[in-house]
Amino acid sequence: MKLCVIGTGYVGLVTGACFANLGNEVICVDKDRGRLRSLKKSVVPFYEPGLEALVVKNLAAKRIRFSTDLEDGVRRSEVIFIAVGTPSKESGEADISSVIEVAKKIAAALRKHSSRKGFKVIVNKSTVPVGMGDVVTKILIERGVSPKNFAVVSNPEFLREGSALADFMHPDRIVIGAATGRAFNVITELYRPLNAHIIFTSVKSAELIKYASNAFLATKISFINEIANICERTGSDVVEVADAIGLDKRIGRKFLNAGLGYGGSCLPKDVMALIHLAAESGYETMVLNSVNDLNQYQIEAFIGKIFKALKKTKGKQITMLGLSFKPETDDLREAPSLKIVERLREKGVKVRVYDPAYKNRSVPGLDLYRDIYAALKGSDAMVLVTDWPEFRELDFERVKNIMKGNHIFDGRNIYEPKRMKDLGFIYAGVGR
Ligand code: UDX
Repeated sequence: MKLCVIGTGYVGLVTGACFANLGNEVICVDKDRGRLRSLKKSVVPFYEPGLEALVVKNLAAKRIRFSTDLEDGVRRSEVIFIAVGTPSKESGEADISSVIEVAKKIAAALRKHSSRKGFKVIVNKSTVPVGMGDVVTKILIERGVSPKNFAVVSNPEFLREGSALADFMHPDRIVIGAATGRAFNVITELYRPLNAHIIFTSVKSAELIKYASNAFLATKISFINEIANICERTGSDVVEVADAIGLDKRIGRKFLNAGLGYGGSCLPKDVMALIHLAAESGYETMVLNSVNDLNQYQIEAFIGKIFKALKKTKGKQITMLGLSFKPETDDLREAPSLKIVERLREKGVKVRVYDPAYKNRSVPGLDLYRDIYAALKGSDAMVLVTDWPEFRELDFERVKNIMKGNHIFDGRNIYEPKRMKDLGFIYAGVGR
């Protein structure tokens, strides 16, 4: 099939490269010329395992190409994906201006080429407030595109950073929100090679499914963090609790890891957007407000723990392990690390940082190290913020010898408290 993907950010590029790899002809459109220049040379502007190789392979096979010409891309394609960003505004509301701008450009392209009469399916991949499908449809009709010639579909993505390609190829479900069987059939055909469970819903339900899905994941995390906070005060161990409650099939063990809460580009933004969306429709959320509050509290409580244990903070040196919001990505959006560094510095603490994704990079204002042991040398405390696998494999005898102090603050509960104590550390996890 001939496809156009508008937006070469995370979602757009993964979608474009994967569909190309399935044998489709894909034009990826972006207005950022610099980004396209890099992509034409197979340089992916962010880190996602396997993505660069997939772009290289499909560029060579001429199944994918990159262009700034939206009109040409739209004109040549049967299916047009909108995959532009919908960041949070100050209020938490999703900023849909890029989607609107793209919809207007698609309308202009389709009106100009209406003589070609091809039926186009316009698919919203961006996470957008409920009702956006109607807004896009209205924009096209108002600009003279005949409703007979197109349909707007909502097809939310559920890709996780770090495992996006596998998530694309083996999804738990594919949601297709469409008003007509014709549009549904086109998109079903596109996904047929994946042999996945496909769910057909209304456009509005599909739009809400995305928010509800991320909000539920966030709720699980805040819930277990609340239990962790109770564990700390009652002498229970949240890992034991999570393991046991997770065996109940109705609950499940996934997303029950207590720690510093959820970060990244989706969960925080989508919870806020859903709170806002509900308020606009006249409903004040209760659960979601608490989910968000607890997520903020979790970082503050952790920082409080560090201050309390160190007593005097001025002049102390801390090594922070992990900068990215989660392992296998270099993404710093809503990363707890940044807030922790800021708050430690305010109190006169010298902070060294080590992250496997930032070994050979610099970030303004951060004291980044290439070697984990060099970073730990002479520090009063180790503060683990991201659960990168290599942090599990540390040589703790060596760590003990090179560190000045013996405090370990484990924000992701990756170490066994008893083992750490036996090794001579003063260990603090979350809820243990
Ligand atoms: C998420 C959704 O999983 C994905 O379906 C959606 O499309 C985009 O948002 P992602 O942001 O890549 O994906 O990260 P995810 O792996 O879901 O983790 C989100 C955050 O929750 C991370 O900060 C992680 O550290 C935290 N987390 C996750 C926990 O604190 N505890 C857990 O048990 C699981």
